[in-house]
Amino acid sequence: MFKIQTLNNISGKGLQRLPSESYEVASEVDKPDAIMLRSFKMHDMELPESVVAIGRAGAGVNNIPVDKMSAKGVPVFNAPGANANAVKELVVAGLLMAARNITPAQQFAAGLSGNDDEISKAVESGKKNFVGYELPSKTLGVIGLGAIGLRVANAALSLGMKVVGFDPQISVQSAWQLDSGVEKAVSIDQVFTKCDAVSVHVPLLDATRGLVSAQRIAMMPKGGVIVNLARGGICDDDAVLSALDTGHLHAYVIDFPTSKLLKHPKVISFPHLGASTEEAEENCAIMVADQVREYLEDGTIKNS
Ligand code: MLT
Repeated sequence: MFKIQTLNNISGKGLQRLPSESYEVASEVDKPDAIMLRSFKMHDMELPESVVAIGRAGAGVNNIPVDKMSAKGVPVFNAPGANANAVKELVVAGLLMAARNITPAQQFAAGLSGNDDEISKAVESGKKNFVGYELPSKTLGVIGLGAIGLRVANAALSLGMKVVGFDPQISVQSAWQLDSGVEKAVSIDQVFTKCDAVSVHVPLLDATRGLVSAQRIAMMPKGGVIVNLARGGICDDDAVLSALDTGHLHAYVIDFPTSKLLKHPKVISFPHLGASTEEAEENCAIMVADQVREYLEDGTIKNS
């Protein structure tokens, strides 16, 4: 019998891959063989000696001390690409929310009161405050053309946007899946100079921390939008906030709100929802449960 400790809720479809005849799966287990988790931060956790594998039901692994695990010989499995469609859809939603001023417009409408005539008059006077723009008039920059970035690039093209992509490490497979309409930038700076909106799809590493900097934001045309559904820290939030305050940036779409971002009227924040669809949760859980199972049962390592 293998024992698996779950540190977060893992989709039932994934857990079904671990049959109860051979697997005990619970949030509390004595001497677990493996750990499965989503966003639980493992950095301060004492790893039980019995653990031989970790499965992260998602793409990013920055909540896991991977180097420490590697030193112990404990593989960390993840699910790259399994939630890419979900993230892509939320990026598109964020771009549309920014373009059509959806949050303030919805708040304005929800705050109306009075009889229907009064509401109708308020609607007429209020609508001029929320004039938006259409996406085909804009160019989107996509930094990082992995599973998520390439879907975002192709989706933006299908919405009529011009798209400029950048990835220093794009694989042949990704390049092949990228719509030929995507212009490849030669540098990150070029993305910022050419684009009205920039969406980042890179992991948080020393090399990507603060990648969206004051200097690069200043290279963008006035009225730009920054989208960060990848990880907090990739954008210099202070630089973004000051560009929102001066009006140089129109909106900041972020999946990792902090106290200083939350209250800003031009910040469109979500509670780390990029991968939170039933489909993505199932896909990630299945992919990672299969990897953990194969490793426990016959030592096979895939995708770690
Ligand atoms: C990811 O890294 O894929 C997401 O953060 C997944 C999640 O929300 O758990």
